[in-house]
Amino acid sequence: MRLVLMGPPGAGKGTQGDRLAEWLRVPRLSTGDMLREARRNATELGRLAQTYMDSGELVPDDVILGLIAEVLDGEAARSGFVLDGFPRTVPQAEGLQRILFDRRDSLDAVLNLAVSDDEVIARLSGRRVCEACGAVTHVDQVGEATDCSQCGASLVQRSDDTVETVRRRLDVYREQTAPVLAWYGSSDVGVTDVDGTGSVDEVFGRLTRAVVAARPV
Ligand code: AP5
Repeated sequence: MRLVLMGPPGAGKGTQGDRLAEWLRVPRLSTGDMLREARRNATELGRLAQTYMDSGELVPDDVILGLIAEVLDGEAARSGFVLDGFPRTVPQAEGLQRILFDRRDSLDAVLNLAVSDDEVIARLSGRRVCEACGAVTHVDQVGEATDCSQCGASLVQRSDDTVETVRRRLDVYREQTAPVLAWYGSSDVGVTDVDGTGSVDEVFGRLTRAVVAARPV
């Protein structure tokens, strides 16, 4: 199963992408996670990505396409994948199509998680991530706790989760990523909109039904 999971920042792509990947037994491929790992390891890619990410702008397409081509070439993604946060521009979508065409593969579904701007701001301003294991949570769930319930390391706020940067990320989403939905909408695979509000379990239920409708598993 080859899925693209789309939606604005904070729509729940990471949260639901992890669950979908586990359910489908395929890897979740998140370009955001790959870039954050490169930053933690202080690689050349990480240094390049830092300024873009901290200001809410997109990392250049050629950099992202090089990164994703390498990952899709690997053995882990052979049996399928859940793409999270990629493609984010029309040139990235065209690049993905070329990569899949060369492998004689195609996408099974493009799922678009829909949430309002107010919900995005509430979710991201309260998001906390574990600096060691990457677990994602929210202050509504953990309250004043500063340690990860899974590994005990520190919970921190992502540097791009300030209200000002989240607003810029929403603008960038509308300017550069919303056109990707129109691009897929007019292609064979189409786009399935999924209500991203409600509990995590409710949203997951809607997503699994959409996946089954796209291609019975
Ligand atoms: P990336 O990491 O991809 O960020 P994003 O798309 O902005 O999405 P987020 O990770 O912020 O949110 P999410 O939708 O995964 O939500 P989550 O599940 O965490 O990208 C970061 C940056 O990297 C970009 O700005 C760009 O600079 C660069 N980049 C990455 N990919 C790129 C690309 N392809 N091209 C160019 N540049 C790229 O949930 C959010 C919060 O809500 C959490 O606290 C969670 O607990 C909570 N939550 C989840 N579900 C629910 C629910 N149902 N109800 C209530 N709360 C919920």
